[in-house]
Amino acid sequence: MDFHDDAGYTLVVTRLRAAGCVFAEEEARLLIAAARTPAELAAMADRRIAGLPLEHIIGWAEFCGLRITVDPGVFVPRRRTEFLVRQAAAFARPGAVVVDLCCGSGALGVALAAALGRIELHSADIDPAAVRCARRNVADVLGRVYEGDLYEPLPATLRGRVDILVANTPYVPTEAIRLLPPEARLHEARVALDGGADGLDVQRRVAAEAPLWLAPGGHLLVEASGRQAPQTVEIFARSGLTPQVIGSDELDATVVIGTRPAAG
Ligand SMILES: C[S@@+](CC[C@H](N)C(=O)[O-])C[C@H]1O[C@@H](n2cnc3c(N)ncnc32)[C@H](O)[C@@H]1O
Repeated sequence: MDFHDDAGYTLVVTRLRAAGCVFAEEEARLLIAAARTPAELAAMADRRIAGLPLEHIIGWAEFCGLRITVDPGVFVPRRRTEFLVRQAAAFARPGAVVVDLCCGSGALGVALAAALGRIELHSADIDPAAVRCARRNVADVLGRVYEGDLYEPLPATLRGRVDILVANTPYVPTEAIRLLPPEARLHEARVALDGGADGLDVQRRVAAEAPLWLAPGGHLLVEASGRQAPQTVEIFARSGLTPQVIGSDELDATVVIGTRPAAG
């Protein structure tokens, strides 16, 4: 039996559906396209049924219409984060200096480069697996990827020069991690999810140092939950950034923007 034929497709859909996959048809199509042999397809379906994220099995995620490589354990870029990219792209101009902190797979920086054409892109993450993955994605847009804690690995020459600083930090409160779907809880790195007691520990550290790195008039953009946004606004204001909240019902996304005043 050719595993690309209708019977092969129906078999995979039936198995995925029985395991509770909501988008069984779409997922079956993607698994069939990714598998090279029937044995590989069966093994991929087994892994999906065991709860691995589809993106870790096929090796990529769609983000802003792009195919982003996602290695096992690396945070899968979420559709809602496309909203943050759109907001950032609206501020930036070709040639902008863009920093993507907590870059994971590097998806945000790559999407901004795709939207804006030429940018000077610097991405960084603390997790070596994320850095390896981001290096492969970011190479396509000629960006650089650094490994380390927040700003620590960035070249000092970037201080005061960053036009756009995007940081999709981990923002799940520690206590809420157990409530996440198993795909995230079991298969994405804890460091990618855990934002401390109120979910905002990493954001606080990003905001505190942002004025040192942003150019006058430059923008910091982070994602938050709707509930966290008022706190993030306070954090930004205390750091000397002018805060603004913007949301998308369609993508269930909230983005907080902090702007370094143009003068002073
Ligand atoms: C929510 S994920 C976002 C990944 C990517 N920006 C995206 O949206 O797909 C958070 C990322 O922050 C990284 N991270 C957590 N703490 C960090 C730190 N102190 N310094 C740098 N990166 C950190 C994690 O390794 C993870 O890749």
